[in-house]
Amino acid sequence: MATVVSEPTSSKVQIKQTKMLIDNKWIDSVSGKKFETINPATGEVLANVAEADAPDVDLAVKAARKAFHSKAPWRRMSASERGKLLNRLADLIEENIEELATLESLDNGKPRHVARTADLPLVIACYRYYAGWADKIQGKTIPINGDYFCYTRHEPVGVVGQIIPWNFPLLMQAWKLGPALACGNTVVLKVAEQTPLSALRVGELLLEAGFPEGVVNILPGYGPTAGAALARHTDVDKVAFTGSTEVGHLVMKAAAESNLKRVTLELGGKSPNIVFADADMDQAIEGSHFALFFNQGQCCCAGSRVFVEGKAYDEFVQRSTERAKRRTVGDPLDRKTEQGPQVDKDQFEKVLHYVDEGRKEGAKLMCGGDRVGERGYFVAPTVFADVNDEMKIAQEEIFGPVMSIMKFQDMDELVERANKTIYGLAAAVWTRDIGKAHHIANNVRAGTVWINCFDVFDAGAPFGGFKQSGIGRELGEYGLQQYSEIKTVTVKL
Ligand code: NAI
Ligand code: MG
Repeated sequence: MATVVSEPTSSKVQIKQTKMLIDNKWIDSVSGKKFETINPATGEVLANVAEADAPDVDLAVKAARKAFHSKAPWRRMSASERGKLLNRLADLIEENIEELATLESLDNGKPRHVARTADLPLVIACYRYYAGWADKIQGKTIPINGDYFCYTRHEPVGVVGQIIPWNFPLLMQAWKLGPALACGNTVVLKVAEQTPLSALRVGELLLEAGFPEGVVNILPGYGPTAGAALARHTDVDKVAFTGSTEVGHLVMKAAAESNLKRVTLELGGKSPNIVFADADMDQAIEGSHFALFFNQGQCCCAGSRVFVEGKAYDEFVQRSTERAKRRTVGDPLDRKTEQGPQVDKDQFEKVLHYVDEGRKEGAKLMCGGDRVGERGYFVAPTVFADVNDEMKIAQEEIFGPVMSIMKFQDMDELVERANKTIYGLAAAVWTRDIGKAHHIANNVRAGTVWINCFDVFDAGAPFGGFKQSGIGRELGEYGLQQYSEIKTVTVKL
């Protein structure tokens, strides 16, 4: 196999912050408990981090509520001033980009150069994009019947609880904080237990930028404890969650059983990636490789069901296998590495379990299928061919470097098959035929469709899921709606 694991090089970054941020102060948890965050490339402990639980969530919500008071500095501040703070935060992230890229890589396992050139530029762009919106969020005047003056105000929702995953720690923080703060909300952010470090460093930069006390509170901690406490808290006005569909159900239930807080969810996917025989095959093969293997396969929108037209099937399988074999796996700090480890032992084991399922159910293993090296959580780039729609590897989210290739002949049947899933996050189509491309784009039930490209993200373009891939949209102007309440004011003239 062409994959190599070199010894992970030691990092030079200093871990500056391991406490929780509440009311602009760095504090230990009420219980005094800490948890370990691991470097998945080595299995070694990077740091011990304050572990938030329900009492800490309470404190953070109180701070956020106080910061939301109509007389508090954040509420008295002009909208353009909010925009300036967000821009200042973006500048500070940019000034500290090398350090943040290293932290992200160490804690998550993604190649450092990818964090530096993909994640961080998107993070900075997201804060700047929403900084620009802060003073452009406005209502309407409405010509209602009678002698009245009627207008709407777009007001912040209030105290917002946000729960984020580990696959893009800094980017998910930006997608959450950017629109929430632009709209004038206050936030309690529960970061993923696997990857707390970069978010805490951004917490320091938030203070440096000058955000008032209690506007952003950051809690590292586990889901069933801190996350659940936030989702069911009766003084939280909205919860925004990104993660598994399974936990999405729990978050919505907690909202329903507590105070009917608003809920937005960005959940899992099993996105169809459709390759027609008339596609530019070089582009389609490299693009499909990227669509699945990017970020160690840990993308909610990964192109994980690859449908290839009969005429092109053999060539596609053969060349995709060769490409996967060439993928370099190893030290995330090495510039030549394309793929680092899975984020933790659980994910590593989950992925290998699905590989076993694929073998048992009779899919054809073309390459990979095993771990790489002796330590760390590296999985060899894996390709299965001759996968059918009913197999587990075609139905369930693997969230790892495992490609499942399926054959199709007929376009109508293809659309049915592409939609035969509980998910509806993304889809892609590779073809030179504009008619086929738009037929797929119009008929596939997914929140995002990429044509002859994949994973093209921009702060301005909304993202989110149909069906059980989620509720609501993030990014773009649409993202603002999820963080605003509309108030109708009517005046008798
Ligand atoms: P998860 O959904 O359990 O975790 C995501 C976030 O939710 C974390 O911050 C976690 O602490 C929190 N959480 C967990 N249980 C909670 C609860 N009961 N109440 C409130 N918050 C809770 O995902 P996990 O366990 O990290 O990964 C499991 C699978 O989920 C992955 O294999 C993958 O298939 C999927 N996933 C999808 C993501 C996406 O981007 N859509 C991101 C991460 C995982
Ligand atoms: Mg979980």
